[in-house]
Amino acid sequence: MNAPTHPEADTTERAKFRQMKEGTADDWAIIGKGYREHSKGLADRVLDHLRLLDGDFGGFPVDRLEHSLQTATRAHRDGRDEQYVVMALLHDIGDTLGSYNHPEVAASIIKPFVTDEIHWICQNHGAFQGYYYFHHLGMNRNLRDKFENHPHYQACADFCEKYDQAAFDPDYDSEPLEFFEPIVRRVMERPLASMYAKAMEDEAA
Ligand SMILES: [Fe+2]
Ligand SMILES: [Fe+2]
Repeated sequence: MNAPTHPEADTTERAKFRQMKEGTADDWAIIGKGYREHSKGLADRVLDHLRLLDGDFGGFPVDRLEHSLQTATRAHRDGRDEQYVVMALLHDIGDTLGSYNHPEVAASIIKPFVTDEIHWICQNHGAFQGYYYFHHLGMNRNLRDKFENHPHYQACADFCEKYDQAAFDPDYDSEPLEFFEPIVRRVMERPLASMYAKAMEDEAA
């Protein structure tokens, strides 16, 4: 048998059911314990995945990891709070697995840990970023206009104008990933709201 990819998941205690409908409270106490341990590693798994963007240029002047660091650094230096900075850092993390819908991948990952506005910015930044290049590809650069009456329209436009579209400068002195690691760990330590928040509360009890 191969070594487990995620050692924290290799618990010695195992539930005994063969079908979930046979599960007992004891089974689920074991699984709940495993879930809480696994959850603690989320920030590190996300950071590991972000590193996959290192060296991935896709024709851009900087690789996707540098673009992410530069977007986050610009937001941080502009005084944005930690939730916002984490969103800025992770906003393109879906480029590896969601090549056709990358904003939704990042938005799903950060959703339990950020405000509705920050989540919305992340989820919709693709349409707003298009303002800066869609016309070069024969597309409608004003696609973002469909959101013009949305309460978070300006916040998303600001994210793209100030940080995202501005983060392709090879000479910018971005902070390294190590600078952001403790921020990611703090923001992802505990969900603000999630259907699983109760399970996390039980751990604290
Ligand atoms: Fe993006
Ligand atoms: Fe981006």
